[in-house]
Amino acid sequence: MNAHNHHGHHVPAPPSEATAVEQPSNDPRTVRIALEARETNWEVAPGVTIAGFGYNGQVPGPTIELKQGVPVEIQFTNRLSEPTLIHWHGLRIPASMDGTQSTQRPVEPGQTFTYRFTPPDAGTFWYHPHANETEQLEKGLYGAFIVRGADEPIVDREQILVLDDVNADKQGRLAKFGGFRERHDGREGDIRLINGKAEPQLTIAAGQIERWRIINASSARYVRFSLGGVPFRIIGTDGGLIEAPVDAAEVLLPAADRVEILVGPFAEGQTLTIDSLRYSRSTMKRRGKERFGTLAVGPAKPSRAAIPTRLRTIEPLISADATPNRTVNFSLGVSLRRGLDFLINGETHHQDKPVKVGELQVWDVVNRSLMDHPFHLHGFFFQVLSINGKAPQFRSWEDVINLPPRSTVRIAWMPEDRPGSWMYHCHILEHHEAGMMGHFDVVR
Ligand code: C2O
Ligand code: CU
Repeated sequence: MNAHNHHGHHVPAPPSEATAVEQPSNDPRTVRIALEARETNWEVAPGVTIAGFGYNGQVPGPTIELKQGVPVEIQFTNRLSEPTLIHWHGLRIPASMDGTQSTQRPVEPGQTFTYRFTPPDAGTFWYHPHANETEQLEKGLYGAFIVRGADEPIVDREQILVLDDVNADKQGRLAKFGGFRERHDGREGDIRLINGKAEPQLTIAAGQIERWRIINASSARYVRFSLGGVPFRIIGTDGGLIEAPVDAAEVLLPAADRVEILVGPFAEGQTLTIDSLRYSRSTMKRRGKERFGTLAVGPAKPSRAAIPTRLRTIEPLISADATPNRTVNFSLGVSLRRGLDFLINGETHHQDKPVKVGELQVWDVVNRSLMDHPFHLHGFFFQVLSINGKAPQFRSWEDVINLPPRSTVRIAWMPEDRPGSWMYHCHILEHHEAGMMGHFDVVR
């Protein structure tokens, strides 16, 4: 593609180098999946039904489960009455398959688009629209995307927990979109969901160890995840396994974040709560500890779990005191027309400088505002070098990191040979919609 052609965000870019990948795959292992976005009656609780949107009519959409390195073709049809497209959040795939308005034309009602790519990493990812996100995700368009590696730890069972909240009344009528508080805080609701159901009861067999893949699909809510205060072990983040299990009693998931944990073994008869602890991200509305669900421990079953002490090696990209070659400023401004502006380097939809394939990026991502923002980089994993000068607790690959108020988060990432139009943005969907994002090209 023409790397110096700085398109606005709503102008589709010309096809990029990835044309080879866009050809139908002749790999006999290719997995073919059909997805359809359509209106659906989404029953979040008995008698509480939301006029929602679902992939294949479900909320969450079907879980896509693939093997690392095996090609997939996802034929997507839009049966909604508005345009949409699918972003494969966290997947390191060609720009032309990233599913944003910078890389393709929106899929119009009745149209089909086939996404073709090969997932390069094992881990817990997700998929969601990248058009009218604030309404389409709130109405239920999201799903888990799981990629398995050849050599995963052996556990007794896996569960996927897609967390979300929805702002609707007791009859399931969605609150009006776009009020002032919603534009400031992001949309939060009092119906808290795991896998599309309000406060469900999950089960686990006594004596067993499960791997939970947790995805925060909320528009804005931060989940400070706790399992009734009992300890668990963190084994993975956005970009797959970490180097060794880390003991924890809670973990913070900003919007769009993922974590993988090992839970158990527990004794039969226990019931644990699945909560979000109080977390203040300087919103107008404060939230205390709130329940997402419960976990009931059933009769014992034998365990065959085998968790290695070493899960993986993650080589550091660079030392923590590396000199940054770019600063990205998140800030809020006052605008006469809109009230509040959500800005990157002083502007909405910031057009950032290109980055060169193979040139290591060290970025200071600075939050000058008084509220938290989850920073998301499309298409590439980064390592966090420091948060306000302090090293993170453990090394990991990430595509989302929280920016606490008035903080500097230093990240490093390597632009691999996937040229094209890419972006980063705040994953509070209302801030994203307001233009708190940067667009840049990866060039050869
Ligand atoms: Cu979940 Cu622009 O991404
Ligand atoms: Cu934000």
